[in-house]
Amino acid sequence: MPAAVLVGAQWGDEGKGKATDLLGGDVDYVVRYQGGNNAGHTVVIGDQKYALHLLPTGILSPEVVPVIGNGVVIDPGVLLSEIDGLAARGISAERLLISANAHLIMPHHKALDKVTERYLGKAKIGTTGRGIGPAYGDKIARMGVRVQDLLDPGILAKKIEVALTEKNQVLTKVYNRRGIEPQAVLEEYLGYAERLKPHIADTSLVLSKALDEDKFVLLEGGQGTLLDIDHGTYPFVTSSSPTSGGACAGAGIPPNRLTKIIGILKAYTTRVGSGPFPTELTDEMGEWLRTTGGEYGVTTGRNRRCGWFDAVIARYATRINGVTDYFLTKLDVLSGLERIPVCVAYEVDGVRHDEIPMTQTDFHHAKPIYEEFPGWQEDITGAKTFADLPPNAQAYVRTLEEMSGAPISAIGVGPGRDQTVVVRPLV
Ligand code: IMP
Repeated sequence: MPAAVLVGAQWGDEGKGKATDLLGGDVDYVVRYQGGNNAGHTVVIGDQKYALHLLPTGILSPEVVPVIGNGVVIDPGVLLSEIDGLAARGISAERLLISANAHLIMPHHKALDKVTERYLGKAKIGTTGRGIGPAYGDKIARMGVRVQDLLDPGILAKKIEVALTEKNQVLTKVYNRRGIEPQAVLEEYLGYAERLKPHIADTSLVLSKALDEDKFVLLEGGQGTLLDIDHGTYPFVTSSSPTSGGACAGAGIPPNRLTKIIGILKAYTTRVGSGPFPTELTDEMGEWLRTTGGEYGVTTGRNRRCGWFDAVIARYATRINGVTDYFLTKLDVLSGLERIPVCVAYEVDGVRHDEIPMTQTDFHHAKPIYEEFPGWQEDITGAKTFADLPPNAQAYVRTLEEMSGAPISAIGVGPGRDQTVVVRPLV
């Protein structure tokens, strides 16, 4: 049976939660494979709105096993409060599995995320301040604390001691902050261990067996292609690999298990935090997109930067991820516009670029070359089939499809669970 990946094709916040939800009925396992509580998924079921940060969206469907894969960094306090918040609304997280190899976000990671950003001044990344980058940094530097360390208090104490011996030097001597007391951290994390123990598993093995048994595994990425540590707009990126290649490493399943790679593409573009964004609109049109699209961060509440659809980026996402199908989200937000510009290429110092420029410097100087397409005035939020969409909306979708280089198989026409036009089955 298939393992399918959902990957953001732009800078994140494309509406992945809705796509996961659409596939929910067919899915047996939903796996988060990277990132942490920097992500934010909103899922609307009936009149209920759920904002998830760390938990896979599968948590909302009783028949799905939600999995936090080895590639994720976990803030255990946040995870438990998310679990408690759902329990208060009658949703059980009993089925949740957490990889023993996932890394933990520690108090020093959060402290360092904030101070390093402050020191960067104008060059800051605009991180979510949740300790994500420092936790991945320690993972790569081989001084991270993993979920499995919660099972051995002796090891946990040693790892906290070793990490803080170095980090407290940095916090106190470089950044002039107070050091962190190892014993207090140990006690806090042993408390988390008690509650998380029943969920800790060899999730790579569980998923491998599930695939052998013909179960359907959905891998759910946080953030998006342009925020990938390798393939994004470095250094204005997150510290992990949301792209499809990262999905295998972060879930512990081999690439030949993947059968569908579903890119999530917003009908326009948004970005949170610093970094280049060629089609950004800083005028009242950008404000209109923000207000109409409700473009405020689920995790940080920050205003999202908004702009027109960028076909250069979409083509890039198709190539980097090997997208087999796109889910185009928020088409309804564009209703009412006379004309809709789409960026088809860039101009950098007088030279046309049909692909993302190779260097950061050129990308920072990239100016969008637009083509304009006729808009539609009709309300499309009730559309059930592609034929229900006004001709100009159909043409807009076809244009994006052609420019992106992969079929648009589903279209979001509103935030609700049933407000999706399925052009062809995604899996
Ligand atoms: P970090 O992931 O907190 O280290 O932040 C690094 C960059 O990724 C910043 O520009 C953040 O705004 C951005 N980022 C992280 N998570 C998300 C997300 O879920 N959606 C959009 N941007 C994100």
